[in-house]
Amino acid sequence: MIFDTVIHDGTIVTPGGTFHGDLGITEGRIAALAERLEGGGRRIDAGGRLVMPGGIEAHAHIAQESSAGVMSADDYRSGSISAAFGGNTCFVPFAAQHRGQSIENVIATYDERSKSSVIDYSYHLIVSDPTEDVLTRGLPTAFARGITSLKVFMTYDLMNLGDAGMLSILDVARENGALTMVHAENNDMVKWMNAKLAARGMTAPKYHAISRPELAEEEAINRAISLARLTDAPLFIVHVSTEGGAELVQKARLEGAKLFAETCPQYLALTRDDLDRPGMEGAKYICSPPVRDHDTQEALWRHIRAGTFDSVSSDHAPYRFDETGKLMHGADAPYPKIANGMPGIAARLPWLFSEGVIKGRISLEDFAALSSANAARIFGMTKKGRIAPGMDADIAIWNPEATRTVTLADQHDNMDYTPFEGLELTGVPELMMTRGEVIVADGTLHAKPGQGRFVARDRVNLSGRAGIPVKETSLMRAEAGE
Ligand code: URP
Ligand code: ZN
Ligand code: ZN
Repeated sequence: MIFDTVIHDGTIVTPGGTFHGDLGITEGRIAALAERLEGGGRRIDAGGRLVMPGGIEAHAHIAQESSAGVMSADDYRSGSISAAFGGNTCFVPFAAQHRGQSIENVIATYDERSKSSVIDYSYHLIVSDPTEDVLTRGLPTAFARGITSLKVFMTYDLMNLGDAGMLSILDVARENGALTMVHAENNDMVKWMNAKLAARGMTAPKYHAISRPELAEEEAINRAISLARLTDAPLFIVHVSTEGGAELVQKARLEGAKLFAETCPQYLALTRDDLDRPGMEGAKYICSPPVRDHDTQEALWRHIRAGTFDSVSSDHAPYRFDETGKLMHGADAPYPKIANGMPGIAARLPWLFSEGVIKGRISLEDFAALSSANAARIFGMTKKGRIAPGMDADIAIWNPEATRTVTLADQHDNMDYTPFEGLELTGVPELMMTRGEVIVADGTLHAKPGQGRFVARDRVNLSGRAGIPVKETSLMRAEAGE
């Protein structure tokens, strides 16, 4: 067989285990795996380093306006470059519908914005206005184009759909084989806390942490799971930040629910003490749901090991620490006026590798699953996420011994801070390849903006998730002869 490229002498991480050998690439696809492969138009000596599937970042806000009208600091060029330096070869940012917008216009807008991506990409829609036209025309058209997932919110006044809106979306998504993702926090509980805190003059960044109680997430996760059960629709709970929330996911999964979930490095690495840094520094750590405490971190790690979470995503939501982002409402704005979110697309995988694999909390195969394979499977990217013949040659070569201190410069994004600054991490993604083309090597970008391609995705993969029938809807369908 003639190979365009052979990666030689790698420690190759496949879903079936890890072995030492060579990997051959032809026309952008993995063509062969063997102990030894001869030839190759180009030979890359991995020197025994880890050859892993490139990361797939399934939760990132890129070139996206928040509901409060703040534009994220990263566009598709800077966001994808940052992702690539952080070990990713593909990402799925959001295409956000704000109220009054048609789905067609939203997708056209993001198709323009995504033209500068250096890595492959798809979108999850965000739906904030489920009109009849959106439900009957806009969404089915998007699903047919391979945009087979969407996010809904149970919080934020301008995004919250209410239970009725969520039921409509879940129903349409299920009918079309699409996956609904949910930001689960009880909006009224948060607003009640905001009013109580404001009445006491408690508006510094540190109060953001207690304004969004664990109970608000747990209540909303429980409700979201119930709404999804009623409609028999699959559901993906994003950015789970509480032990109670993880337990609800675990219990529903044991019962057979069509349920998926993720957590994020910030909930494992940061605590509410970070929101209490001097002056307005705490604003850098404001995200929703908020970061919690050490006990929660330990609980979330236990759930990662127990398989409760399908992925660890960054929820990269970059707002600079200046008047374009966090401080848009002034240098001493009250916490409800500070943009929610923090950057992390470049830090996610080095952090997970170091804290997870190097510290013995997860295996290399777990790392590949949590960083890439599960997202590819769940979100219908059938040619990505695994090292196996026939798959896209989306590959990351990691040096598992190299150490690095996290710095802003290393993030290669358009931000003016990183919440992970100064952490000492072991394990560095040194060479990145998308569809057989080297995009990052020796600390240098080799890709051109526009090189990334849109990935049309399949229906959600529900293998192993049978669903839990609901008596009353089963009776209704049986009597109607459906
Ligand atoms: O605070 C966060 N996480 N901002 C980004 C938007 C979201 O809800 O994921
Ligand atoms: Zn969210
Ligand atoms: Zn998010």
